[in-house]
Amino acid sequence: MTAIASDTLGIRPMTEDDVDWVVAQERLLHDFPWTRGNFIDSLAAGYAARLLLIDGKPAGYAIMLSVIDEVHLLNISVIQDRQGQGVGSGFLLRLMNEARHLGARQCFLEVRPSNEAALKVYKRHGFASIGRRKGYYPSQNGAREDAIVMRLDL
Ligand SMILES: CC(C)(COP(=O)(O)OP(=O)(O)OC[C@H]1O[C@@H](n2cnc3c(N)ncnc32)[C@H](O)[C@@H]1OP(=O)(O)O)[C@@H](O)C(=O)NCCC(=O)NCCS
Repeated sequence: MTAIASDTLGIRPMTEDDVDWVVAQERLLHDFPWTRGNFIDSLAAGYAARLLLIDGKPAGYAIMLSVIDEVHLLNISVIQDRQGQGVGSGFLLRLMNEARHLGARQCFLEVRPSNEAALKVYKRHGFASIGRRKGYYPSQNGAREDAIVMRLDL
């Protein structure tokens, strides 16, 4: 698949007008999607909610929570048609740059061990595994899946 040139990627704040699109994508991209309310609450709470643009068209979204000198990457998603082209990688790079500018010293996130694409992107950018939360996520077969907790020094 063709890699997307990094200079075609843009980022802008997510607004309430974007939420219908974001929720529709979220349902396609996640087995256990965030609800509309989760996104609206994130915006209302002032989380860093971002829309990723490719040539000006929405191609992904992310939510980050800033706490003093830490950020928590709560959601990063790239639309299906644009996956596997380096877009997630470019998006993460931009989000981490923004976090640095906000004064963050480290970033934390949780990821399913089965989410190989996400793990690959996080490791590529220097995130290291620092622990596991047992049975953190629901999973399709009714069992629970652990979360790998990862940290990046910014
Ligand atoms: C995780 C996600 C953001 C990555 O975005 P992306 O644009 O596909 O990322 P990139 O193209 O930069 O890199 C993905 C890498 O994983 C690889 N990959 C994709 N699917 C894979 C799989 N099933 N197993 C192993 N590697 C896989 C790709 O080949 C690529 O590696 P490469 O650059 O060495 O070829 C995207 O897959 C996504 O939105 N997934 C659904 C939502 C999600 O799980 N978000 C993260 C948790 S909130």
